[in-house]
Amino acid sequence: MSQGVAVAAKQDAIDLPVAAREAAGAGPVPSAAIGGLSIRGLSKSHQLKGKALEVLQDIDLEIQPGEFVALVGASGCGKTTLLRILLGLERDFTGVVEQDGAAITGPSPERGIVFQEHRLLPWLTVEQNVAFGLGGRVKDKQEVRERVRQYLGLVGLNGFDAAYPAQLSGGMAQRAAIARALINRPRLLLLDEPLGALDALTRLHMQKELEEIWRREKVTALLVTHDIEEAIYLADRVIVLSPRPGRIKRQIRVPLGRPHDRDSSGFIAIKDELLAEFQLQAERHFYYTI
Ligand SMILES: Nc1ncnc2c1ncn2[C@@H]1O[C@H](COP(=O)(O)OP(=O)(O)O)[C@@H](O)[C@H]1O
Ligand SMILES: [Mg+2]
Repeated sequence: MSQGVAVAAKQDAIDLPVAAREAAGAGPVPSAAIGGLSIRGLSKSHQLKGKALEVLQDIDLEIQPGEFVALVGASGCGKTTLLRILLGLERDFTGVVEQDGAAITGPSPERGIVFQEHRLLPWLTVEQNVAFGLGGRVKDKQEVRERVRQYLGLVGLNGFDAAYPAQLSGGMAQRAAIARALINRPRLLLLDEPLGALDALTRLHMQKELEEIWRREKVTALLVTHDIEEAIYLADRVIVLSPRPGRIKRQIRVPLGRPHDRDSSGFIAIKDELLAEFQLQAERHFYYTI
């Protein structure tokens, strides 16, 4: 393990500016990128049988424009709740949640989401499903067709525009869901375990594709995953949430050149650090997901 990586991997809760990120070898940050996120003092309770269930507690998180951040944490610690707040679907919380300096007060085409299930409409073709993401905002039919073509190409679904969801494999359906999320050209892409339902080989392949799409689109990304390797492979920074109520327990940077090499000593060192957070180190050859 190189000394630099060991030191960097131990950097907790420090938000490096973009220039420092580049200097640390995390790859260039696109200058045109926007989509930075600022979460300050965020707490959220759900009502359950008349009682308040505290789900998120005092979350402070700054995400730089163009950054890829992964969020890992036990089931039920509030990850989906956090993404729903960022989408603008949950309004009842305390604290500040801003995108590019403006408070998030409701859903917006500036923010797209991909869920674990593709949620494509079964009676629409792939082309129609992807166009559906535009929500009628683009009126010019030629432009709609052009955008659909562009994003189907981006996710590698050229030639499947007339297929129905039932005719697609799991990986292809998730690609269509990614195209549907990106067609608005959002500044922030939220990913809620988007590869969680795929078989292991398809998942590895899709991780590579997702990384390439993120690089090409220059979109800020926040990924929820249970797969520690997936988090390190994709993210510039991995955030560990504590069990409910979700609090930021640990932040680990991934100061490796892109694409992150799973066999590199730096990658393995970070994986060990994360496994230790979940007390899985001893069994790491057998269990690397949480
Ligand atoms: N609308 C809701 N009403 C009441 N409780 C909820 C609601 N949504 C989620 N919860 C509860 O909040 C906790 C966090 O849920 P969630 O954000 O989905 O966690 P995660 O995505 O980390 O698994 C869970 O205990 C869940 O049961
Ligand atoms: Mg969830």
